[in-house]
Amino acid sequence: MLSAEPVESSLDHELVQEIIELAGWAPFHLAASSVHRERLTEASLVPWRFHILPKQICLDLRQRLLDKGDRSKVPDMLAAADILIQATWCPDLDETGTALHEEFEFLPTASNMEHIAATAAAVQNLLLAATARNIATYWSSGGPMRTQEIASMLGIPADEILLGSIFLFPDQENHAEVAVRPGKMREKRGSTEAWCRWVAALQE
Ligand SMILES: Cc1cc2nc3c(=O)[nH]c(=O)nc-3n(C[C@H](O)[C@H](O)[C@H](O)COP(=O)(O)O)c2cc1C
Repeated sequence: MLSAEPVESSLDHELVQEIIELAGWAPFHLAASSVHRERLTEASLVPWRFHILPKQICLDLRQRLLDKGDRSKVPDMLAAADILIQATWCPDLDETGTALHEEFEFLPTASNMEHIAATAAAVQNLLLAATARNIATYWSSGGPMRTQEIASMLGIPADEILLGSIFLFPDQENHAEVAVRPGKMREKRGSTEAWCRWVAALQE
């Protein structure tokens, strides 16, 4: 959803807490490395982190992006959103013992693959829980939200990698001013036959 001007928030924070708790029941296989775990105020092994931006922070961030001349659709999405969740994952250390990385660069290890998979499962749980409660959602790669500058504005550690900017939107029926743009890939997934096969026999 997009809006040129800020839309009034209507999302109940208790409902948000409820869907975040459901998201947290995602499966995970491997613990985040101690570098990430040591920063937590309470013990947890999960490899994902959700940084939750309430409405006012979304609007403050929108203003910062506009001031910097951002021309993406993100400012209009921030104007429409009730909440934005920066969903990050915790990459393992590299062989030098550091977790630092350039954007989108991380070790191609099985454990990193599983950290990403678990984080994606948590995000999908969040989307399902929100959809079941009639909250519209949108999973974006983040665009301008991916920069280190924005991460540090939001207090996100530099060694976490953004998996998605997850927008939660207000009830569209009560907000005629927001425009809904459907996903480009929605009708392009093909039938299940295109991407599924039954294994009929073992190959010799
Ligand atoms: C990892 C990931 C990143 C995505 N990033 C974007 C993005 O940056 N821009 C975009 O238009 N859609 C992106 N999408 C797709 C939208 O989330 C999706 O098309 C939209 O929510 C509509 O969903 P629908 O197909 O169920 O209607 C992304 C999806 C995933 C899984």
